[in-house]
Amino acid sequence: MTRAPIAVALDAPNLATVTDWAREVGPFVSTLKVGLEAYLRDGRSAVDAARLAAPDCAIFLDLKLHDIPATVAGAARAIRDVAPDLLTVHAAGGSAMIAAAVEALPRTRIVAVTVLTSLTDADLVALGLQQEATASARDLAVRLAVEAVAAGAGAIVCSPEEVADIRAAVPSRDVLLITPGVRPAGADLVDQRRVATPAEALRRGADLLVIGRPITGADDPARAAEAIARDLTDG
Ligand code: C5P
Repeated sequence: MTRAPIAVALDAPNLATVTDWAREVGPFVSTLKVGLEAYLRDGRSAVDAARLAAPDCAIFLDLKLHDIPATVAGAARAIRDVAPDLLTVHAAGGSAMIAAAVEALPRTRIVAVTVLTSLTDADLVALGLQQEATASARDLAVRLAVEAVAAGAGAIVCSPEEVADIRAAVPSRDVLLITPGVRPAGADLVDQRRVATPAEALRRGADLLVIGRPITGADDPARAAEAIARDLTDG
């Protein structure tokens, strides 16, 4: 079967589990995502383990960098040898910060994270990031996405709820739209709030779905990945 456009979040409690999950889900998905939990504990060993276990998968390093441009440029240069296919930075870091990451890692697709899928409109108002009268995570996400692409980002992370609006505002197919907050029907939302099912997220225009716990929290991650992937590629 064709690999599904899914990045499995390898948010594992130890390196052995990163390796196991990568080996189990690798045959069914296009991408493996190494995030803060694994990278801060295991460093590049986490990336090496995922690559070795699933050599055909792209590596998505989700460090969500957010600092002044010089610091982000230095951080990006520091992982040049790790050479991830994708690296996240926060869009809210601003255009100069995004441009600095793009320049520091020319062979990596810099992915700008818009509004975390765990935040609601009410959270944004409480944080002062939106005015009560006009509060909408969607408006903020679209604005952040447009700015990030203008600064050189090659992909955007957004919720399935705003992916269609972002595609309308960023029509270039060279820019990938990546959506976490993906939950198969009936699955536990846990801390995610702005969600959709995998098929619905793709229908709305996502190019790559980030899925963690619905796969890695299953009794059999391989079967869970296969079931979601089959649903998407057959459907
Ligand atoms: O387990 P779950 O499917 O919720 O995993 C989602 C993954 O996507 C986590 O690794 C999380 O860090 C990441 N992510 C997110 N929301 C964003 C950006 C990344 O949930 N806006």
